[in-house]
Amino acid sequence: QPYVVIMAGGIGSRFWPYSRHERPKQFLDILSTGRTLLQMTYDRFLKISTPEMFFVVTNKNYEHIVREQLPEVPESQILTEPLRRNTATCVAYASYKIASRNRNAKVIVTPADHLILKEDNFLDKISKALKAAEVNNNLITIGIRPNRPETGYGYIQYLINEKSVAKKVKTFTEKPNAKLAKTFVDSGDFVWNSGMFVWKVDSIIAAFEKYMPEVAEVFEEGEQHYFSSSEGDFINRAYTLVKNISIDFGIMEKSDEVYVVLGDFGWSDLGSWMSLHEIKEKDESENVIEANALVYDTEGCFVKAPKDKLVVVQGLKNYLINDSDNVLLICELDAEKKFREFVSDAKQKG
Ligand code: GDD
Ligand code: MG
Repeated sequence: QPYVVIMAGGIGSRFWPYSRHERPKQFLDILSTGRTLLQMTYDRFLKISTPEMFFVVTNKNYEHIVREQLPEVPESQILTEPLRRNTATCVAYASYKIASRNRNAKVIVTPADHLILKEDNFLDKISKALKAAEVNNNLITIGIRPNRPETGYGYIQYLINEKSVAKKVKTFTEKPNAKLAKTFVDSGDFVWNSGMFVWKVDSIIAAFEKYMPEVAEVFEEGEQHYFSSSEGDFINRAYTLVKNISIDFGIMEKSDEVYVVLGDFGWSDLGSWMSLHEIKEKDESENVIEANALVYDTEGCFVKAPKDKLVVVQGLKNYLINDSDNVLLICELDAEKKFREFVSDAKQKG
């Protein structure tokens, strides 16, 4: 059975103000299914693993939320980070800890905030990826056919004429600029990196040793601390010693042992209001209304507010209106690039 590492330490700033630093989007029931995105991720992988095989990595501020939402996961497998050091560090921590228990482990690493519509198809691809990960030190990615020159994703170019399910990756480019992204999409031989990875724990450790030796050195030292009472102190120290860098920049762009299994299972990274608008049910004017609202001459909008407030909207096109707690945000639905600024300026205002 595979280990499943869920990366759940992001802050989801592009979903502000609905997603807050105190409770980011992965801990919210964004799709109104009764389960949060984290719980949906857990449910999905539970079909091919068991609760004691899960590791959830999150910031110490969210530990209580993870415990509350996933009570089945053993406490020693909810890994808490003292600082935000990005996904390479998150993966290193989980990998070295798993290796201290089981050197032959196979591991699936997954974000906590994705939507997957065709679950059977998805699980089939994951099992193919698990098979492919048995070979050499292969690092397996899951690729998604792109439909727009999105700059927030990694782009994978693979050897087209390859017959095997896991295709050899030629280049991996994390978050290209707009021009490059367009070239990639137009060329037709690139897929998006879905952000899920499958490998043997030994393979990823070999990759850390090769491409991020300073990180490897730090987490190797933890061998005698993992699963013991000194783990917390060790990790607090370790996190101050490593740089903030994603697994994509740190390893996937550099390694020549990367393979891709192509997936087509209704994948969506619920990264922004735009992407959520895309998948939600809309009225005849393409509005998503999650509010008690009166809407006139309005199209392509997303209106989300508590039901006890009547919202009246007129004459807007492609706008977001989100009333959450003490913030009312009205902005263009695609104002994604502005969100960092909103959040940091809002902090100043108090
Ligand atoms: N524990 C922990 N600690 N988790 C983190 C941290 C951290 O410091 N930073 C991010 N995460 C979690 C997020 O909560 C999310 O579930 C996952 O790791 C991925 O991080 P994102 O910040 O959402 O990455 P991204 O969307 O910009 O890019 C990645 O995903 C894309 C697909 O959605 C990359 O892998 C891209 O290549 C990929 O295309
Ligand atoms: Mg993401």
